[in-house]
Amino acid sequence: MTGISIRRADFMMLLAYASDLATGHSRDFALRSCVLAMRIADLAGLSEGERRNAYHQSMLRYVGCNADTDLLSGLFGDEIALRQDLVGLDMGNRAELGRVFVQAFKRLYYDLEPTAQQQAIEAGLAQAAAVVRPVLTAHCEVAQRIGERLGLSEEIRRNLGQIYERFDGKGLPRGLRGDVVLPAVRLITLAQDMIALSDAAGAEAMADVIAARADGPYEADLARLVSANAVGLMEGIGATVDRETILRLEPDPPVTLDEAASDEAFLAIADMIDMRMPFTRGHSRAVAELAEGAGRQSGLPETDVRALRWSALVHDIGELVVPVSTWMRNGPLSVRERDAAHLHAYYGERALASFGGEGEPMGALVLRHHERLDGSGYHRKVNGADLSPAARILAAAEMFETAREERPHRKALSVDAAAAHLRTAVREGCICPDAAEAVLTVAGQPSRRAPRPLAGLSPREIEVLRLIAAGLTAKETARRLDISPKTTDHHIQSIYGKIGVTTRAAAALYAVERGLVRAGETPT
Ligand SMILES: [Fe+2]
Repeated sequence: MTGISIRRADFMMLLAYASDLATGHSRDFALRSCVLAMRIADLAGLSEGERRNAYHQSMLRYVGCNADTDLLSGLFGDEIALRQDLVGLDMGNRAELGRVFVQAFKRLYYDLEPTAQQQAIEAGLAQAAAVVRPVLTAHCEVAQRIGERLGLSEEIRRNLGQIYERFDGKGLPRGLRGDVVLPAVRLITLAQDMIALSDAAGAEAMADVIAARADGPYEADLARLVSANAVGLMEGIGATVDRETILRLEPDPPVTLDEAASDEAFLAIADMIDMRMPFTRGHSRAVAELAEGAGRQSGLPETDVRALRWSALVHDIGELVVPVSTWMRNGPLSVRERDAAHLHAYYGERALASFGGEGEPMGALVLRHHERLDGSGYHRKVNGADLSPAARILAAAEMFETAREERPHRKALSVDAAAAHLRTAVREGCICPDAAEAVLTVAGQPSRRAPRPLAGLSPREIEVLRLIAAGLTAKETARRLDISPKTTDHHIQSIYGKIGVTTRAAAALYAVERGLVRAGETPT
């Protein structure tokens, strides 16, 4: 038992962040809609059960939105730009919808002659319904599946099966009508349109649009109620929402996940990230398996191994900010596209910045997963001094696994060829040799040399070394680790012997060199 206990809402916030990126919504769009929906629930006097459904629907409405994105992007091009154009739109208005589709096709076929462009637009419009309808059905099914893996009740998951349905029956894919469209679906559709319309034109203009649409997509009474109170409802719902606000809003009792359930939640997020494109499916799971095994092989403490595994599962969450049409293109990226792609590590770190206690060390690893020992990586171009053993392992695992997978511009490498690729990166000074050998051993490759798991230090000795390197005395270290001073002294002497030093200062230097401690940081 590790005593891990993580609020399920933390995972929902991560998923909300991921789907905001993938849909081109504004920052914290889903979280802002959660705050607004809870205010509307208070105003309308909704029951606790209805509040609970709406709370989950607000953050998880779009978690299935990565399903079949390659199909959407194949027809419309930049799917994030398309989704941005659809935000706040009355989807039941065929003329408006058609205008947005034409705009997307013009963006895609910008370089065609006028006649050819017109033909391409007409061909695209003719296919649109046949592509869009099954994609939206997939969004609903995938959202429900992810909800199940988070352990959500059937009642909450039912709402995720109706995310695009509308009160007037003009929604998709089933055209459900009236009360068959569940209350939480109606409330969150309304709340999210309010956020989008308010962002675009202010709360008063938003109130006018909502009132004008009262007999359309929304339940009329609810639409009139929020329209009459729009300015007050929107007050203080700024650009961002902090974690504590969302945690406080969770209807009682708050749900927490233990280590096994948390692992399953991270796996669900990994699959959500990777399902956007056929060639990335299973990527994050595979990187996590390699990194976890290599971390253990290298003798990292179990807490570090767990952080490494979970970081690997979400390492590419920031990739969702880049449209699939960019990743799928068989050709070079423009400078702007490359800059945006490089920033995915930053977006990944930001996603984890508010993920409770586990988030900070995970964010630090995600931020560095494309950095290289010689400073040739991205996006901060740090060098080995900034890369902990875990960061080095994640980089090696990611490089090896990516080489094993097909990409639009190249075939997948065989295991042997991918191993050679990684070892070349080691020779060039990019990838840590110890990390590479540990990853390759886990991948079943014969090791070229015995791995050097931190001079043979045991996980407990690494913990002791980190604490004394951070300035704790032997007594304090013993207290922190809940072991006797005699055992602590024994560990210290063993560490000194293994790394070939006789003083605490030299041991601390060794720890710093290996990235086991950082300035101003006391290991927990
Ligand atoms: Fe990446």
